[in-house]
Amino acid sequence: MDADAQKRAAAARAIDFVQSGMRLGLGTGSTAKHFVDLLGERVRAGLKVIGVPTSEATRAQAQACGIPLTTLDETPELDLTIDGADEVARDFSMIKGGGGALLREKIVASASDRMLVIVDASKCVDKLGAFALPIEVTPFGFGATLKAVEKVIAGVQRGGPLKLRQGRDGHPFVTDGGHWIVDAALARIEDPKAMACALAAVPGVMEHGLFVDLASIVIVAGPDGVKTVERDR
Ligand code: A5P
Repeated sequence: MDADAQKRAAAARAIDFVQSGMRLGLGTGSTAKHFVDLLGERVRAGLKVIGVPTSEATRAQAQACGIPLTTLDETPELDLTIDGADEVARDFSMIKGGGGALLREKIVASASDRMLVIVDASKCVDKLGAFALPIEVTPFGFGATLKAVEKVIAGVQRGGPLKLRQGRDGHPFVTDGGHWIVDAALARIEDPKAMACALAAVPGVMEHGLFVDLASIVIVAGPDGVKTVERDR
C-alpha cells in the first residue's frame, strides 16, 4: 500500500465508528478527504448523520457528497470528530495544521465527545517536532507577535527558525479565518504541554497546532495493515 492507499484504509476503518444519528466533526486534509468521501457514500445509502466541517474546503466537499451540515452555533456539542494529523506521538499528542485549518479543527475537536485521528504510518513519531509547528497569528502587529513567539519558545526550549507560510501568489497564506500561519522549525518538542501553554498566552496568536489531550482514538494504516489504538477515557 502506498501512503494514499494507507490514508484511505485508515479512513475506511474510521467509518466503523460512525453510528446513525451522530453529530460529526469533519476534518481537513488529504486523509480526512478520504473519510468524507466514504461517509458520503454511506449517507447516500441512507445513513443519518449531521456534520460540522473544519474548513471551507471540507464544507464544499461534504456538500458535494450530500452530507447534511450544521454549525457549532446550531449544534454546539458533537459526538465524534474524525481528522488527520501531521504527527502523532505515543501519548496521542499531535501536530496539526499542515493544511492551515488548525483553528477550526481545534474548536470542532474540543466540542466533540471523542476525537478519532486517522493517519498513515509515516505520521507516527516518538517525539513531536520534526514537522514544523504551525502557529496561526492575526496579521495585525505581525512583527511584534513574531518577536513574542520567538521569546516564549526560547523560554521553553531551544528555538528554531520561524517562517511565515506563503500562499501561491507570493502573498502570505491566509486561513479560512483571515489569519496568517508561522511555521516553527523546532526539530523536537520536549514538552508539548508547556509549549502549548506558552504559545497560547501570546497576544496575536490565534491558535497553535499542538493538540494535547484531544485525541481519544488513533487509527494507523501501514504497509502491514490497519491498527486502532484507543486511549482510556
Ligand atoms: C489541516 O490543517 C491539518 O491539520 C491536517 O489534518 C493535517 O495536515 C493532515 O493532513 P493530511 O491528511 O493531508 O496529511
